[in-house]
Amino acid sequence: MKNILIIEDSKIINNVIKRELSKFEFKVNQAFTYSQAKNALESEKFNLIILDLHLPDGEGSELIANIQSLTKTKVVVLTSSQDEDLRDELFQYGILDYIIKDKNLLYSIAEIIKIINNLTIKEDKEKILIIDDSKFICKQVKTILEPRNYILTSAYTADRGLEKLRSDSFDLIILDMELPDMHGIKVLEYIRQDLRFLNIPIIVLSGTSTPEIIRTVLKNGANDFLKKPFVFEEFILKVDLWIDYFKKDRELSEKTFKLQFMNDNLEKLVYEEVEKNRRKDKLMFAQSRHAQMGEMISMIAHQWRQPLNSIGAAIAVIDVRVKRGMLDIETSKSITTKIQHYIEYLSSTIDDFRDFFKPQKTKRVTDFEMIFNKVLSLIKSSINDKKIKLNISTKDVEQFLSYENELVQVVLNLLKNAEDVFDDKDIKDPEISVEINKSSISISDNGGGIDEKIKDKIFNPYFSTKNQKDGTGLGLYMSKVIVEEHCYGKLEFENIDGGTKFIISLPNDTKDLSDE
Ligand SMILES: Nc1ncnc2c1ncn2[C@@H]1O[C@H](COP(=O)(O)OP(=O)(O)OP(=O)(O)O)[C@@H](O)[C@H]1O
Ligand SMILES: [Mg+2]
Repeated sequence: MKNILIIEDSKIINNVIKRELSKFEFKVNQAFTYSQAKNALESEKFNLIILDLHLPDGEGSELIANIQSLTKTKVVVLTSSQDEDLRDELFQYGILDYIIKDKNLLYSIAEIIKIINNLTIKEDKEKILIIDDSKFICKQVKTILEPRNYILTSAYTADRGLEKLRSDSFDLIILDMELPDMHGIKVLEYIRQDLRFLNIPIIVLSGTSTPEIIRTVLKNGANDFLKKPFVFEEFILKVDLWIDYFKKDRELSEKTFKLQFMNDNLEKLVYEEVEKNRRKDKLMFAQSRHAQMGEMISMIAHQWRQPLNSIGAAIAVIDVRVKRGMLDIETSKSITTKIQHYIEYLSSTIDDFRDFFKPQKTKRVTDFEMIFNKVLSLIKSSINDKKIKLNISTKDVEQFLSYENELVQVVLNLLKNAEDVFDDKDIKDPEISVEINKSSISISDNGGGIDEKIKDKIFNPYFSTKNQKDGTGLGLYMSKVIVEEHCYGKLEFENIDGGTKFIISLPNDTKDLSDE
């Protein structure tokens, strides 16, 4: 909290200032005489002193000097309209500013608040370079600006000035036109040629102020012009303004730069992220397909067992008959036809599986009845073996344009999951109901349903409850990706009485979904 000392003998003015400043959470102390002020300054530290120039026990410049001998705290002077002549002199004493109390006190208090806030916010002090051969001017500028928290560096020649400019960083340059070693215009040219100094504001001070000079100075890169001797108030105002402008300009370009950098990088990041995801998905596809291939091999074995046995039996019949000399043409024909039939069956099974493994890159017009029949041709022997009852109902089957093979994979995943849960839970009368309606298919089982606790996780990659069976946990994840990202449909599930129901629904407009 900022601690302010008001030294003013008029009770009314002192109280008004105190009241107004207290509103801004400053701690305000009052002194009505120099001796009271002295006591306060000896016992407490202040951030700012507001000093009336006419006290019963102290006056004018002497009073300022006395206060400054007691403390380094910055002083804002209260003056009255009659003190006109005094004001120029005031700045020579290194006061921070002055305010006129008998004009518009509330406006002046608002000014004080600005000054206090400026004092408190400034953490990095701005640096100002003054290039002027007059030591008097340099000192004067220093006296005026240092109390306002600026750091001043003086150079008495152009050469020194440019050297300092190159070795430090500045927020403002105050430049005299009449330098001993180089004309001010040349100095301006030098500064503006260097990209590093392109935007530093430059205020030019000059003894002459013909329109010609002002024009040349401004056209050669100066931001502002002041004629010597200058009015202190105007000078301070311009310094504050240009420093503030430069700061905002720099902040803006830093922000723009950062934004640009972020933008460029964002594109790259998004691209990399998308690529990474694509690679990850590709890998998972491969993993999940490998797992399915393993299952397929055992399905093929299942489907082949029965026809192979039948072929074996037919050959045995031929063998017996030949040995007994009883193989007539009719029997031989009928047996070879049977064997031919089994071989065709074996061959068509292989075709079904080969189709399934063939990568299919383009969409084709299909429907869920067709897709389900393909799945069934792959899985029917294992369903029969496990005595799973299959109810199929179809209604208004509609065609759509999509990746058929991928959807076969999805339906197969759902049926395998149902089969797995029957095994897992040892379900007595396992039953799967398939309903095909327009361009959607639902697969329900009576396997006991999915536990509430894992409901939110089943579509996560690698989530599986099948420890013993080595589930990859990719089945449902991949199914979701296929249905929702590749085919723009929806894959959802709900627990139904005694089991689970998975539903795939696809957009059925074959015209709008052009091939990709
Ligand atoms: N019909 C269902 N009934 C009960 N639980 C199911 C059913 N379908 C899936 N789940 C649960 O969801 C989990 C995730 O299924 P997902 O198909 O993704 O993987 P998985 O079947 O465990 O492994 P994989 O598909 O590689 O064999 C399963 O482990 C199971 O717990
Ligand atoms: Mg599965």
